[in-house]
Amino acid sequence: LRDKYLTAIANAGDEAALEDLRVSAVGKKGEISLKMRELGKMTPEERQTAGPALNALKDEINSALAAKKVALADAALDERLKSEWLDVTLPSRPRQQGTIHPVSQVTEEVTAILADMGFAVAEGPQIDSDWYNFDALNIPGHHPARAEMDTFYMHRAEGDERPPHVLRTHTSPVQIRHMEKHGAPCRIIAPGRVYRADYDQTHTPMFHQVEGLAIDRDISMANLKWVLEEFFSAFFGTSVKTRFRASHFPFTEPSAEVDIQCSFEGGTVKVGEGDDWLEVLGSGMVHPKVLAAAGVDPDEWQGFAFGMGIDRIAMLKYGIPDLRAFFDSDLRWLRHYGFAS
Ligand code: PHE
Repeated sequence: LRDKYLTAIANAGDEAALEDLRVSAVGKKGEISLKMRELGKMTPEERQTAGPALNALKDEINSALAAKKVALADAALDERLKSEWLDVTLPSRPRQQGTIHPVSQVTEEVTAILADMGFAVAEGPQIDSDWYNFDALNIPGHHPARAEMDTFYMHRAEGDERPPHVLRTHTSPVQIRHMEKHGAPCRIIAPGRVYRADYDQTHTPMFHQVEGLAIDRDISMANLKWVLEEFFSAFFGTSVKTRFRASHFPFTEPSAEVDIQCSFEGGTVKVGEGDDWLEVLGSGMVHPKVLAAAGVDPDEWQGFAFGMGIDRIAMLKYGIPDLRAFFDSDLRWLRHYGFAS
């Protein structure tokens, strides 16, 4: 009996087989339990030897069952570990992840610097009436900027009498829209897309500007120069000199084009050193007619405005020779300049 059960337990293949063995050996009606019941019919002498022997056998079988149960559980775990094994050294699948476009990155940088200087962000539509884009800004009907070859006019169906609209050619119409709504004083920037019919290495039909406008009772060109020098030094991470050249815009008087100090050596432009100059923006004191067109009293208020090419300063900062590459969506190019991974 002992050998029969110990061998069967040793050979049991799983927990269910082991349980069957337990029942048939030491279960209520198991072979060993039945034998123990027979003890009652034995003579005292017989019982004295058979009793302890049966008890010892029962203990032995029970501990063999328990030991085998643990062994089976261990084996099952080993089996699972083997089948669920995974190779953590396998390379992962490549993950396609987009990045922020360089022009957007630069727009955010520009906005952060000017926001620190107290300028709030304003916005206007990219399709605007030619009143906001031209007339309110004192740009007369015969001005070359209004020529069809420079400006994208929106086509109106025959009989559509609504005023003409254009793809805005600059961010300056946001000056009018903002002052009309919020009056003076104000201090805003307006970054965004603008459109002109132009295409070469440094011009694309869509590009980006940031407009600046500060109106109060005593704002002067000196404030403008300080703001711009602070801005360029923060943006290029080095102290940058500016040069103001007298110029003309219909919406500012006086007007100035602003150059920043740079060097051209070995085909690369370096900002903040050398004795060459590069034009980066137009600016001036807001024309009284422009203030009046926006409902701001020119006898009480005055201020400066500027309009800067965002793509232009991005090219300078990252040493990019061709503006058109910004809009080609060529991943190799983006990676080369560190704009994508
Ligand atoms: N709007 C002008 C341009 O696009 C720039 C400018 C803005 C000039 C504000 C003066 C004042 O060229």
